[in-house]
Formats: sequence, structure tokens, C-alpha cells
Amino acid sequence: MFIDPSPHRPGRLRHRLREGTAVLLACIALAACTDRMQPTDDRWGRSGELIAMSGGEGGARYACATCHGTRGEGNGFDAPRLAGLPAGYLQKQMEDYALGLRPHAVMRDVARFLDSHERVLVANHYAALPPQALPPASSETPDPSAAALYADACQSCHGVAGIGTAEGPPLNAQPAFYLAQQLQDWQKSKRRNDGRHVMVEAAQRLDPEQVRQLSLHLARIPLHPVVAAR
Ligand code: HEC
Ligand code: HEC
Repeated sequence: MFIDPSPHRPGRLRHRLREGTAVLLACIALAACTDRMQPTDDRWGRSGELIAMSGGEGGARYACATCHGTRGEGNGFDAPRLAGLPAGYLQKQMEDYALGLRPHAVMRDVARFLDSHERVLVANHYAALPPQALPPASSETPDPSAAALYADACQSCHGVAGIGTAEGPPLNAQPAFYLAQQLQDWQKSKRRNDGRHVMVEAAQRLDPEQVRQLSLHLARIPLHPVVAAR
């Protein structure tokens, strides 16, 4: 298992980024060890929680709870819920922010102040929390056709009622603003961390009204939907 215990400052990390192969290998190794780390292991859980509440080396400005809520419920606007999302997905996003594959000024700095080991710890912490979300910010209801569009274009990867599958993360109860932002980022190829460009392709097939409708639809699906047996 490759885990470098030394802290990475942004300057050092930039240097490391030039060593593309080494970073790639580290990511692969980490993806493998994420599966082996049990979120129920108290040692991991406690240090992940500490980072979530304190921001780690970056300090209070980067404390996850400030923007993602004390229970990982998100801020109902631009910061998504993290509670209950798959650990592997969360950890990959932190790596992608640090590498710039998913460009975002704030999350880039947040991720770069953590070393790879700490990213795994904090991902496991949020994955182990019970799913939580704020109620939809707006009372605007989606057009009924949004459900059919979702079933047609998105469900194969994101699951019935947006609960997620091995092919795609959960989307249910994420803020509509956040969801629309992600789809627009993919349409512009700004976010480009999806393997095989599956999301770039899915998003580029949507017009602006469809982006809006799908986002409103997904934001209103409760976290614990009654999903009919398939
Ligand atoms: C100052 C506010 C702020 C802080 C502090 C912050 N985040 Fe974020 N986070 C955001 C925003 C805004 C986004 C959405 C960015 C985008 O559009 O890609 C985000 C996105 C994410 C995502 C992507 C989730 C998904 O569903 O794809 C992860 C993972 C994440 N943050 C983890 C963390 C962790 C872990 C910490 C603490 C170490 C943290 N964030 C601290 C604002 C913040
Ligand atoms: C072929 C599989 C596939 C299809 C079809 C697909 N997605 Fe995705 N989607 C993914 C994957 C994989 C990711 C995660 C990419 C990554 O690692 O960041 C993702 C991520 C997302 C995210 C970001 C979630 C977050 O927390 O940031 C949104 C929003 C999204 N998809 C919406 C949609 C919508 C809407 C559709 C239908 C129009 C759709 N997807 C169709 C595979 C798919």
C-alpha cells in the first residue's frame, strides 16, 4: 500500500503533479485501499471527523462542515450533500479537485491542503454518515416529463430514483442549483473527470430546459424513496 505520511503543501504538490506516473500509480493504489478500509473502524472514523470539523492543515477556513453542514447535509445550494455517498466516489472527487480534472477554486485548495491519506479518511467519514439533505430550496416543481427523461437517459447508471449504482453516484436530494452546475460544467467540458466521457456525452445531449427540469426533478426525490423491486 502506498501512503506517503508526509504532509503535502500546495507548492510541494505542484512539484509532485509533474510526476504524472507516480501520482497515477498512487491513485490506483489508493482506490484499492479505500475498499479495504472499513468505515466502521473507529480509528479511521475519528480522524476523518476531525478533518471534517477542523479543516486539517488548511485550518478553519477549509473545515468541511462550514459548507457541507455538520451532518454532511450540504448547504442546499452550491455545496452538495456528502453524507452517505460512496467512499470511493468521494475520495476520487478529492483527487480530481487536487489534480484540476474537476476545476473549482475552493475545492482545489481544500483538497490540496490534505494529503492522500487524509482524503481517504475524510471520504470514509462522510460515507459512513447516515444520508442527510436539506429540503429543496425552491417550491418550483418540475415538469412531469422530467421523470421519463431521467428514466430514459440517466437511470441505467444513476439508478431508480437516483439512488446510484456501481456505474454512477447517487443524485437524489442533491440541490438543484448544484446538479445544474455540474451538468453545465460537463457541457463545456470544464468538469472532465468522468471515465470514458460518459457524462460529457450524456450532458451534451441535453438542452438548457432539460438540464433545469432534470435538476428540479432529482432535487425533489427524497433520500429514502420507496423503490419498487426490479
Ligand atoms: C468554503 C466552502 C467549502 C468547504 C470549506 C469545503 N467544500 Fe467541498 N464543496 C464546496 C462546493 C461549493 C462544492 C461544489 C464544487 C463543484 O461545483 O464542483 C464542493 C464539492 C465537494 C465534493 C464533491 C461531491 C460530489 O458529490 O461530487 C466533495 C467530495 C467535497 N466537496 C468534499 C469536501 C471536504 C472533504 C471538505 C473538507 C476537507 C470540503 N469539501 C470543504 C464547498 C466547500
Ligand atoms: C453511462 C453511465 C452514465 C449515464 C448514462 C449518466 N451518468 Fe451521470 N455520472 C456517471 C458517472 C460515472 C459519474 C461520476 C463521474 C465522476 O467520477 O466524477 C456521474 C456523475 C453525475 C453527476 C455529478 C454528481 C455529483 O455528485 O457531482 C450528475 C449531476 C449526473 N451524473 C447527472 C446525470 C444525468 C442528469 C444523466 C442523464 C441525462 C446522467 N448523469 C447519465 C455516469 C453516467
